[in-house]
Amino acid sequence: MSKSLISITDFSKDEMLHILDVAAYFEKNKMQSFLSGKVVASLFFEPSTRTRLSFETAANRLGAKVIGFADTRNTSITKGESLKDTIKMVSNYADLIIMRHPLEGSSRYASEISSLPVINAGDGANQHPTQTLLDMYTMRETQGTLENLCINMVGDLKYGRTVHSLIQAMYYFHPRFIFTSPNELTMPEQYKEFLRQHEIPFTETDSLVGHLNEADILYMTRVQQERFTDPMEYEKVKNVYRLDASMLRSVKSNMKILHPLPRVNEIAQDVDDTPYAYYFKQAENGMYVRMAIIAYLLGYK
Ligand code: CP
Repeated sequence: MSKSLISITDFSKDEMLHILDVAAYFEKNKMQSFLSGKVVASLFFEPSTRTRLSFETAANRLGAKVIGFADTRNTSITKGESLKDTIKMVSNYADLIIMRHPLEGSSRYASEISSLPVINAGDGANQHPTQTLLDMYTMRETQGTLENLCINMVGDLKYGRTVHSLIQAMYYFHPRFIFTSPNELTMPEQYKEFLRQHEIPFTETDSLVGHLNEADILYMTRVQQERFTDPMEYEKVKNVYRLDASMLRSVKSNMKILHPLPRVNEIAQDVDDTPYAYYFKQAENGMYVRMAIIAYLLGYK
């Protein structure tokens, strides 16, 4: 059975650190050819800009060929073909599957059907493990360490798959968390219980300004319209936080603002020009980290 990356918990601490080190090598050595002859399938059942393009660029930079789709309207899924049959077909054509799907658990299901390695590029509100690895890479790049960081997660902590994965990865490194969200979008109990079990301290608040000055990492997230079943609920919280440059006067000098992107209104454009904004470099880092993940799962250790 091939190793897949479905949840961040599929990787040990050593495997995560290995990925970060290999990604740092690829940042300095961007063009490789050792995957020539390999085919990577990129299956996006849900919209994406960064994850899909950085994965496909990563595969190209490693010398692999890429097949796949970014829109299921051009596939036989519109004729009623099941996820199971789609994955079985693609498994005949490729060496590795990258998959984003709106249904939680869909990537795990695909990995059970396919004999190929499967990478979860986001499954509903569940997990986004490759985002987590690029977030860790970016934190280490900006802070010089992953140890003892104060991470303030802001926004949609209920449906935000990136924050869920990140908590499970960072617990190895003695973090302290601040969870900033409106009451409707608080961190799910299962993740808070995970932190309690591992004696990781966390604070919950609905005030963005209240804890800004404590953070080493301010991890902003979008309120995700596509996860709400009730449009009125979305309207109530969609503009709950808006970070602007005037709010950053007393933050720690080492503080960096990350965001998985896309952003909507939660970070004003004037923040982009401050020394704290790091989200565009974070997105670039995704390419190096995804090169390392593809290489690792195809057996290049
Ligand atoms: N961060 C992220 O997953 O972005 P996309 O939805 O554009 O892939």
